[in-house]
Formats: sequence, C-alpha cells, structure tokens
Amino acid sequence: MKRQVLVVIFTLHLSSVIGQFSYSIPEELAKGSLVGNIARDLGLDGKRILSGRARIYTGDSVQYIELNRERGILVIKERIDREGLCRQTTPCALHFQITLENPLELFPVTVEITDINDNVPLFQNEDRRFEISESAVIGSKFMLEKAIDPDIGLNGLQKYTLKPSDNFMLKLQSQSDGSKKVEMILQKSLDREKQQHISLLLTAEDGGEPQRTGTMHIHVTVLDANDNAPVFTKSVYKASIIENSAIGTLVTKVSASDADQGSNGEVIYVIGNRIDTVSKLFHINSEGEVILDGPVDYEKEKNYHIDIEAIDQGGLSDSSKMIIDVIDVNDNSPVVNIISTSSSVQEDSAPKTVIALMSVNDPDPDTNGKVNCVINQDIPFEIKFTSNHFYSLVTERELDRETDSAYNITVTCSDEGVPSLSSSVTLTLQISDVNDNSPVFERSSYEAYIVENNTPGLSIFTVKARDADWNQNARVSYILEDSSVNGVPVSSYVSVSADGGVIHAVRSFDYEQIKVFHFRVKAQDGGSPPLSSNVTVKVLIQDQNDNPPQVLYPVQTGGSLVAEMVPRSADVGYLVTKVVAVDVDSGQNAWLSYKLQKATDRALFEVGLQNGEIRTIRGVTDKDAVKQRLTVIVEDNGQPSRSATVIVNVAVADSFPEVLSEFTDYTQDKEYNDNLTFYLVLALAVVSFLFITCLVVIISVKIYRWRQSRVLYHSNLPVIPYYPPRYSDTLGTGTLQHVYNYEVCRTNDSRKSDCKFGTVGSQNVQIMDPSSTGTMQRIQSEKNILDEPDSPLEV
Ligand SMILES: *[C@@H]1O[C@H](CO)[C@@H](O)[C@H](O)[C@H]1NC(C)=O
Repeated sequence: MKRQVLVVIFTLHLSSVIGQFSYSIPEELAKGSLVGNIARDLGLDGKRILSGRARIYTGDSVQYIELNRERGILVIKERIDREGLCRQTTPCALHFQITLENPLELFPVTVEITDINDNVPLFQNEDRRFEISESAVIGSKFMLEKAIDPDIGLNGLQKYTLKPSDNFMLKLQSQSDGSKKVEMILQKSLDREKQQHISLLLTAEDGGEPQRTGTMHIHVTVLDANDNAPVFTKSVYKASIIENSAIGTLVTKVSASDADQGSNGEVIYVIGNRIDTVSKLFHINSEGEVILDGPVDYEKEKNYHIDIEAIDQGGLSDSSKMIIDVIDVNDNSPVVNIISTSSSVQEDSAPKTVIALMSVNDPDPDTNGKVNCVINQDIPFEIKFTSNHFYSLVTERELDRETDSAYNITVTCSDEGVPSLSSSVTLTLQISDVNDNSPVFERSSYEAYIVENNTPGLSIFTVKARDADWNQNARVSYILEDSSVNGVPVSSYVSVSADGGVIHAVRSFDYEQIKVFHFRVKAQDGGSPPLSSNVTVKVLIQDQNDNPPQVLYPVQTGGSLVAEMVPRSADVGYLVTKVVAVDVDSGQNAWLSYKLQKATDRALFEVGLQNGEIRTIRGVTDKDAVKQRLTVIVEDNGQPSRSATVIVNVAVADSFPEVLSEFTDYTQDKEYNDNLTFYLVLALAVVSFLFITCLVVIISVKIYRWRQSRVLYHSNLPVIPYYPPRYSDTLGTGTLQHVYNYEVCRTNDSRKSDCKFGTVGSQNVQIMDPSSTGTMQRIQSEKNILDEPDSPLEV
C-alpha cells in the first residue's frame, strides 16, 4: 500500500512536465503495478485511445511496461531490476513512445527507474584465513577482500566494521577508481601463548532502508616465535631425602614450562651450583627429576640449596631454587664419654655419693638423638640426669664391702629412635674397706682339754676369730683378758699368742689341784679405732694316772708287828681283813683292783678283786703256821696302771701272846735300823700308852654301864684326823672324799713318811675279848667306816 501511495505521488509530480511525459517508478514493482495514467496525462479520452489503437513502441528494447487501453494507464509488464538494466549508471530510465493512429500521433514517454535497496553487500568468500607470526610488528598490513553491493547511492556499500578490534584495526584507502582498499592493520602485538587463534568478523554495511549487511569471517592463526623463556612452576622447590638413601634415589621432580611451541618450548634442566659439592651429590635429568648421586649424611649437612636452571632451545632460561632437607635416620648410637670416675669408694660413703660423671651425645636430632641411660639392675647405684647431656652415677644406699667388694656398673644409653640404638660403658668400682666388722670367734665359747702334768708352754689349743673386713681392718690380735683363777691372775695359767690365738699353758697343771678354769680372750682387729669381741674359754684339765693307789689299811710300817688274827677255829670264808686303798686320781685311774701277789700259803687266803677283802678259802688247821704273810697288790685301772703292794701279816692263833712271840722274831729279823723309825716307834709307843690308858678308863666305865654287853669297846683303832693340803676340799669332787678326811697316816710305802703318829703302838693295842667268839669287833668297826664313807667316823 505504501508503495502504491508513493507511486501516485511520483506520478502526479511528473505529469506536470510539459511536452515530456516522464514517470518515475521504483524497480522491482510487481506485474500489473500502475506506472501512470497516460490517457489523462496526454489529455486523450478513452475513445481516442481505442480508436487510435494506441500502443507502446520501444524499438528493439525489451518492453517492460505495457499500456492498458481500456483504462488508459501504463502498468508493469515485466519485473524491472535496475541493477540489471542500468548497473551503476544513473539515472536509469526507460524510453519509449506511445503511438496513435488516425491521426498518427507520437508521444515520447520516459520512465525513470529508481533504486531500491534490494542487494546486500556481498563478499566473494565467506572465510578468509591468515597465518601471522606472533612476532609480527605493529602496523603490519593485511589486505582484505572488498564487498560488493550493486545498489547505488545510499543503498550501495557504505562502510566496513571489523570486530573484535583488540589486535587489528581496519583501514580503508580510497583508490583511483573510486573504490576503497580494505586493509587490516596490526595494532597490538600478537601472543600465541595467549591466543593462538583469533576470529574476526568483517562486516560490510549499505545505507539503505532497511540496512543490509554482508559478513566475512577472518581466521587468524598466530604462529609461534620463541618469545617465551621457560618458567619454573615454583620459585622455590622443597624436597626431602632420607639420609643414607641409595644412589639413584629420585629426590623430587621439578618442571619448568615454556609457553612456546615445538622446539621453542623444549626445556633442558641443569644444576647451577657448579663448584659446590652439591653438583656431585645430585643431578637433574631432562625430565626435571632430581636424582641422588652420592651419600647424604644428616649429621654433615642438614639441607642443600640447589640452583636449578631451565633452558629452552632458544637459549632462554629461568632459574629456581631447590631446598632439599635431609631427613634424619637413627644411624648414630649415643656416645658415652666418662668425664671423671673414681675407681674406688668407701663402703660407708653416704648415699648419693658421686661415682662418675659422664656426658652422652647422640648426633642425631630430635627423638633419634634423645638419649636415656640406665644401669644394670640389682646394684646399689643409680644414674641421674644432671643437665644437658650430663649424667652422674651416684650411690643409692650405703655399700657393704663385705657383701660386694667390687661392682661392674654397666651404663647403657639408648636413643629413642626406631629402632633404637644404644651403647654401653662398663665401670669397675672397688669398694674400699672401712672397719665396720668386729672380729667374730668361730664359736660362742670354747672348751679345751689339757691333760695334767703338761709341760709348761704347751699349746693347748687355738681360738680363732674372723673379721669380715679387709687387710689391716681384718688383722685380728688375741689378748688374754685379765681375770683371776683361785686368786691367781689367769696369766699365770695360760698365755695367748697375739697373732695366732694359740693358747699356751704357762704352768703344769695338776688335775688333783684344779680341774677347770675359765678365762676370756679378746679378739681385736687392727682398724682405727679397733673393734673387738670376747669369748669365754673353759679349760678342763684331764686326769692322768699320776698317782698310784695308796693303801690306807693295813698300815705299813717297816718292821711293824701288825698282824691280823685268825682264830684256828675260823671257817671257810672267814673275813681276815680288808685292804683299803684309795687313788687320788679319778675315774679309771682311781678304779682299784686287789690281787694276791704272794702268800705263805696260797691255798689258805684269797683277796676280793674289787673290795680287797681277805678271806680264808679253807678251814684253818693246826698245821698251818701261825705267821702267815700275804702280799696284796693294789692296781688302778689307768693306762699304764699304777700299783701299790701291801704286806698283810696274819697270825693264825688263838691267843695274843702266841702271836706276839711269833712276830717278834719276824719283826726283829726285818727291823730297820733306822733312827727315824726308832724315834717314831718311840713316839708312837708313848702315844699308844696314853691312848691305852684312856681306853682302860673308858672301858671301865663301859663295863659298868653295859654289863650285859660283851663288847668291851667300840673301836680299837687309833684314828687321827689328818688333812693333807693336797686333798683340800676346795678342789671339788674326788673319789672317797670323806675318807681322805679321815685318812690315817699309815702308808705302806712310807717308812720314811712324814707321819707324826706312829702305828706300831696302835698295833699293840689289840685287845682281845676273851669271851668273844673270835670275831674281831675292831674290824667290824673299820668295815663300817669304809663301807659308809659319808658317815664320819666316830671315836
Ligand atoms: C667385672 O668384670 C670383670 C671382667 O668381665 C670380671 O672379671 C669381674 O669378675 C667382674 N666383677 C664383678 C664384681 O662382677
């Protein structure tokens, strides 16, 4: 509709042109579209047109417009394309004539064809490719294709735009033919590494209404240049390696990237520290792997600083740093150093006495170097951590050399690594002695035996005390402690050798005088101050058969007339007398036996082996001699035995005078002409006389009193108490103790004895009881005395 209106306006405008009929229509009108009302414009009526057979004459040209005679208007016969008709020529018009017949008339008509924007600017190729090095300099030009728009005027190509415009800008350059040269100019350097491909869109626009555009894609491929150095991924690499790692161990991998392509981006790695020991320990391969080449020891070097370089083919490089920390391995045992030590310590040292000071080091760090020290068990020491690697070894409690005189102290130090390493040191410590032990006797008391009659100086026995201490402290001396035995200092009995403890008899002992005594011996060590202890020693003197039996009865005197009377009427078994003997020794040594050694008539008498009784073994006959002489031997049971003999005179008679007459000869025969004996006999005779006198008086009284009794007297023995000093009662037990008290001083072998009392007289006092049956009462009495030794003999 709009187009229709526009056509009308054109038509009206052109109709005013005089003589020249021209119309203006846009191109591309549809068939049948009205071009102009030619009838009216020519002032012709419809009849004329019909009658005049009006028609259009175009010559050879194509007839685009036809005449509608009925309506007198011109309409489009063929589609009119201005660009095809006129190309770029302006104005573009169709020229034809309208011819009429009858009359012939010619009317030139011009139809101007105006342009409409029916063409888009068009590029010949839709795509355009460029390969541009990234090193291309700014200002470089790249020719672009022009676009073509057949429309003219505003409908023709008006401008180009290029997007995006980051790197390139568009430049149009007018050319002599009026067309424009389209160029793309590099205004900002390319970076392949940022953008390898750039897509640009070139747009050509016309000025029509509506506007039409044409586009072309421009593909720029940026070509690489070695414009990038390698770049390490880190400015500092950190890595670690375990010490003692094997050669060839991969430590770490570094990498440097090079943004360039191909060989420009190929990187090699090198270690920069050329003179360092580092270069001998590590190398780096083309993959950037850092590989261990030598031994690493944490204790030597805890870390390594390595300069690494990455170089590309073009010689561009980057450097970085690598710090390799060496990780410790517990490869060092603790080292124990004894700073000071004492080789010995006194046993009484106070607890916590320092024995040794030591330092312990472990070069490993942290727990691998953290050390704990212990000592062997069950010893009285302890180890103490003092400070900063120092340990002291101290005593834990008091020591006792007597229990342990030396110690081997093993100090074992272990670190806390896994597995732990340890080392140990052994100290030998001697415990020095202190005099803390008294000597101790081997026994709590001693008993020693010594046989009497020892030689003075005889060693009796040895006491021994031991002292657990050492050396001088254990050197024991023996000391006899002062005391007295029976009022005599013990030192006069025994002595003790100071160093041997040997006890010597100082004197000869007599069992019959002393049987036992005690004393104390002190053992004292050589310490300072000395310690001592005591022991009691009991010395028992043992009897020896050093005393022969002593015959108490019958009393033996040289030439005496002592005789036992046996009445001729005596029966078998008649007790003639009893030999009484004692032995001051004891035990077996005092065990007496009696034997008949000699006899006038062996067949008549026998002697009781044990009791010494002399008895008849057959009846007495008249033929038997009056005077019988028996020798009785008394033996003790000692080894060797000792003996005594006694001569017993027996008178076989019924009356005393008979006896006397017999024995006088005998006596005179055997009489000793010794003065002493003579005086003794004399003295005894005197005493006997006095005694008999007394007896007579007593008997007289008794007769008066005991008329009925036939006993004339109780005793006819002259018994005189006598106390020889050696039988002192203080000597303790002895056999026949009480008998000794009443011993009659008539020894058989002491014709020269010191007895003051004669016995001859006593023999004389044998008063026969005429009325008796022959039993001698006197003997009965004696027998009583001897059988019952405990009862004192009465006079
Ligand atoms: C200490 O060790 C030594 C050597 O091994 C040994 O001869 C000695 O008997 C030991 N001493 C003690 C008290 O164990």
